[in-house]
Amino acid sequence: MGFNLQKVVPWGRSFDEYCAMFGLSEQDLQQAIVGVADGPAAFNAVLTETGGNIISADPVYAFSRGQIQQRIDDLFDDMVLQVEANANDLRLHKFGSAQALGEVRMQAMQCFLRDFEQGKQQGRYINAELPDLPFKEDQFDLALCSHLLFLYSDQLSLDFHIKAILELCRIAEEVRIFPLLNLSHDKSGHLEQVIQVLTQSGFRPTIEKVEYEFQIGGNEMLRIQSSKN
Ligand SMILES: C[S@@+](CC[C@H](N)C(=O)[O-])C[C@H]1O[C@@H](n2cnc3c(N)ncnc32)[C@H](O)[C@@H]1O
Repeated sequence: MGFNLQKVVPWGRSFDEYCAMFGLSEQDLQQAIVGVADGPAAFNAVLTETGGNIISADPVYAFSRGQIQQRIDDLFDDMVLQVEANANDLRLHKFGSAQALGEVRMQAMQCFLRDFEQGKQQGRYINAELPDLPFKEDQFDLALCSHLLFLYSDQLSLDFHIKAILELCRIAEEVRIFPLLNLSHDKSGHLEQVIQVLTQSGFRPTIEKVEYEFQIGGNEMLRIQSSKN
């Protein structure tokens, strides 16, 4: 069964949010990066503009710019209302209001949309889906995955998480995943077992605090390094 656009909630984050979520240094930004599940985030567009080396992989890239734009427009008002309804569990103060946050997200998504067709032609936006990615072993220095793994723990099984994260470890020397909370703002029930499997498989997983916090308590990322490093 193909990937269904109706399942996607387009809500792309900005370049600055990516840097904060993953604690990215200037040196990190010069590495070969893969962003898995980047969707309509602005990270690829902005990093490319500043000379970075990045590929994004997401099944939503099977669709055209027009189709993705339509999905964003269809859901945008609803998304802002949902943020408003959940305001007590979110740190909105940095943005000001749900509406102001919506504007930041919309700017990021417009930045992605402007870059999308050209980026697709240049092979920077690849239609691909975890847990199997069309990349070579250690093709990248760094793999980033924001707002898919752990967040959708009720929808995506432990088995899926383990396969997906081992796949990220196959294609990159280091992996960073954010957030570690699920949609109910609780620590993902998969986290402990994922860490156990990674350790048994010879990786070094560590939980690290980052500067970014939107879900209250959601200020940690999982960093996974190969024990060779
Ligand atoms: C909530 S969005 C996050 C977008 C972006 N990472 C950000 O933080 O702004 C989740 C993304 O995961 C993508 N996705 C869903 N299933 C996936 C899978 N199996 N493999 C890779 N990406 C997937 C969706 O298409 C969507 O773009």
